Amino acid sequence: MKHAVAMNSPAPPDAQKYPASMRALHWLRALVVIGTLSVGLVMVNLPDELPLKFEQLYPNHKQFGLLAFLLGLAALALRARSRVPQPPAGLKPWERKLSTLAHRAFYALLIIVPLMGYSMSSTFTQSDGVPFFFFGQVPELLPKNDRWFEVFQLLHRTFAYALLALVVLHVAGALKHRFIDKDAENDVLRRMLP
Ligand code: HEM
Ligand code: HEM
Repeated sequence: MKHAVAMNSPAPPDAQKYPASMRALHWLRALVVIGTLSVGLVMVNLPDELPLKFEQLYPNHKQFGLLAFLLGLAALALRARSRVPQPPAGLKPWERKLSTLAHRAFYALLIIVPLMGYSMSSTFTQSDGVPFFFFGQVPELLPKNDRWFEVFQLLHRTFAYALLALVVLHVAGALKHRFIDKDAENDVLRRMLP
């Protein structure tokens, strides 16, 4: 059955939407990444004496961080096999360039940040290990070396903050198109919603 399409709409709304599988994976990934980021920021500022810190928050941060990594890889694989809609024609060239750059940076950071986190745990002489849900412990493959740990810790933190900045930019962009531009054709949020 055909949709009733507004007269000034250049294509049926669904033609400009991301496929349902990409939309579902996007929101699942957003939830896991924002949760992992938030727990990371909170846990490092808690006192070491608090049992919650090393018994709950650290292991969960690590396993959800690894899940974010896998979801990032799954999203890349899914993207390669999907019909991805073109950016809305009405976007200004700088908006188009910035959003493409931000999306690429997301894919890169969702690989780099967890790998640096894993390398940090793996090289730390006093690491409690890296759990992954019902699979048990992930082997820590790198040699133990606290100097390397410090390097990976700095890299993990720096890239995680870059990811945080990117989330803020990304959300601000989506909200700008919806609430400030108020141009239905450039409303990118619609393309990601059910
Ligand atoms: C997308 C995934 C991840 C994000 C967004 C993330 C983010 C963060 C953030 C924001 C911090 C706090 C940094 C600070 O202020 O010092 C942190 C700390 C930490 N992360 Fe992650 N992380 C991720 C994945 C991982 C993974 C996969 C591991 C290990 C397998 C890991 C291990 C750690 C550890 C051990 C700390 C504490 C470092 C310390 O005590 O100084 N993270 N993470
Ligand atoms: C950490 C969380 C998030 C990550 C990692 C993320 C990642 C991404 C990526 C990689 C894309 C590009 C999809 C592609 O073409 O392959 C995308 C698109 C999009 N995201 Fe997010 N996102 C996150 C959170 C959010 C949130 C909270 C919002 C809501 C405001 C949002 C709204 C959108 C929209 C509207 C698009 C479509 C953009 C377009 O059509 O050009 N994202 N996101």
